[in-house]
Amino acid sequence: MAKSKKAQGLEELAAQIRVCTRCPLHESRTLAVPGDGKFSAKVMIIGEAPGKEEDESGHPFVGSAGRFLNHVLEGTGLDRNDFFITNTVKCRPPKNRTPKKLEVDTCTSNYLFEQIALLNPKLIMLLGTVAAKKVLGVKSINEARGRVILHEGRKYLVGYHPAVRFYREDLGEKVKEDFALLKREVKKVKR
Ligand code: URA
Repeated sequence: MAKSKKAQGLEELAAQIRVCTRCPLHESRTLAVPGDGKFSAKVMIIGEAPGKEEDESGHPFVGSAGRFLNHVLEGTGLDRNDFFITNTVKCRPPKNRTPKKLEVDTCTSNYLFEQIALLNPKLIMLLGTVAAKKVLGVKSINEARGRVILHEGRKYLVGYHPAVRFYREDLGEKVKEDFALLKREVKKVKR
C-alpha cells in the first residue's frame, strides 16, 4: 500500500534530523533522536532534550527519566504506544545542560513545529519548562499545569518534567497528578 503523505513527511523529517548540522549540538551528539511512535497517534508528548542513553540509542525517554515516564504512564493505564514521543531539541546538549535559545529556536523552527503540523495530534503534553516556554510562551510550569490550554486549535497540557523528581523528590506527587490529568484528557480524544 502507498504510504500516506503524513507517514512520508514524518519519515523524511526524521531522516533530515538524523543528519542535521544546523546547530552546534551536532558536534557532540552520537545519534540525533527524532522521536518514536505511531504516526496515527492522537496524543504527542514533548520533553526537553535527549540524555545520555537517548543519545546512544537514538530513541527518546529510554534512560532514567524514561523509566519514570513508563512508571507514571503505567499508573494511568496508558501505554507508550498511545503516544508519539519526542523532544524540543533532538540532540543531546553536552553534560545534559539546558539547551540554549539558538539551539531551541533552530530545532523547533526546522523540526518540532513541522512534526506537530504533520502528526496533527488532538492533544499535546509538554513536559518541563523548555518545552512549555517555547511552544506556549508560558513563564513557569506552575502557572500552566493542571488545566487544558487551547492554543492554535489544539489542546495542550503542561506538566513537570519526569526527571524533576531526581532532584526535587517532593514534586514526584505533582508529576503523578499531571499524568492523571493526561489520562482523563486522553480518554476524551480517543473517543
Ligand atoms: N529527558 C527528555 O526530556 N527527553 C528524553 O528523551 C530523555 C530525558
